[in-house]
Amino acid sequence: MRGITIRGCGISVPDKVLTNDDLSATLDTSDAWITERTGIKERHVGGITSQMAIEAGRHAIADAGLDPSDIDVVLLATTTPDALVPATSATVQAGIGVPGGAFDLNAACSGFVYGLVAAAGLVAVGSGRVLVIGADALSRITDWDDRTMAVLVGDGAGAVVVEPVDGPGDLLSWNFGADGTLRHLLRCDHGGYLFMDGKEVFRKAVRVVVESAERAIQDAGIQASDVDLLVPHQANLRIIQAACQRLGIPEERTVMVIDRYGNTSSASIPLALDDALRSGRVSPGNHLLLTGFGGGMTWASAVLRWGR
Ligand code: COA
Repeated sequence: MRGITIRGCGISVPDKVLTNDDLSATLDTSDAWITERTGIKERHVGGITSQMAIEAGRHAIADAGLDPSDIDVVLLATTTPDALVPATSATVQAGIGVPGGAFDLNAACSGFVYGLVAAAGLVAVGSGRVLVIGADALSRITDWDDRTMAVLVGDGAGAVVVEPVDGPGDLLSWNFGADGTLRHLLRCDHGGYLFMDGKEVFRKAVRVVVESAERAIQDAGIQASDVDLLVPHQANLRIIQAACQRLGIPEERTVMVIDRYGNTSSASIPLALDDALRSGRVSPGNHLLLTGFGGGMTWASAVLRWGR
């Protein structure tokens, strides 16, 4: 039996920062409204998916003390590929100098958790190390004159090195979900801009995240009180707070980076994970619950027992 452990983590965000006050200068909105309704204070914009993914991937490989030649597969979760063809992961593979295969995965904001579990599946059938990256440049598919979307989004990338280990490894449980009948709630057609029915997404997101997280907790054979750190998709502070309350996980045990990054889609969970690791909030043996939701709708949760 071959399981996985996470050996290194890295992130990248574009230099350009847009504060709520910057947005209020061009849109009919305010720092007070955005902060109160979303928890967001600023976001990074102007990113290019492949470039952010390359930088985050390099940082993760260096953090693991490895060389690009030690990686077998690049798995890029993204909703905003540089182009329809070629796969953005191939650009990333060449940019980092990874000798192995590469593919993209799109499960919207749940993409990183889908990617992490897919990497565990690859390892189980014999793959070596997988570089799992979540990268998105939502600023490129946002109408900056539309205040309902512009205040929410940001760009970024986060990456982890997933390494094979003998035995069951650190991934204790996972589940995926999708409901394509809800596609109208959050969508972006080719060449168009993001559209969202915010209220309905909010309602559904809380329900699916809680159900999915509860299933992952149960399948891991633990209780909610055993979760040392919740690493949720960062879409709205109030969604995270509502989920925490329903799951019975105190907010102090949750990673919040939405104030600095906004909603970065596939990147938001690895950005949060990296923040938790850098600030010393993760110790070996800790139970981490990763959970995300997004367009589709899709959702996914995973419980890890941190191994290093
Ligand atoms: N600035 C100021 N006012 C705004 C605004 C903005 N950026 N956007 C909307 N408003 C106005 C609305 O027009 C409305 O005005 P009205 O009462 O005069 O009609 C009022 O603020 C309230 O709007 P509403 O849409 O009811 O606010 P809300 O509390 O539902 O918050 C969201 C809106 C988008 C923040 C919230 O619904 C949300 O976060 N939804 C989920 C988003 C999400 O998770 N997306 C990612 C999925 S991966």
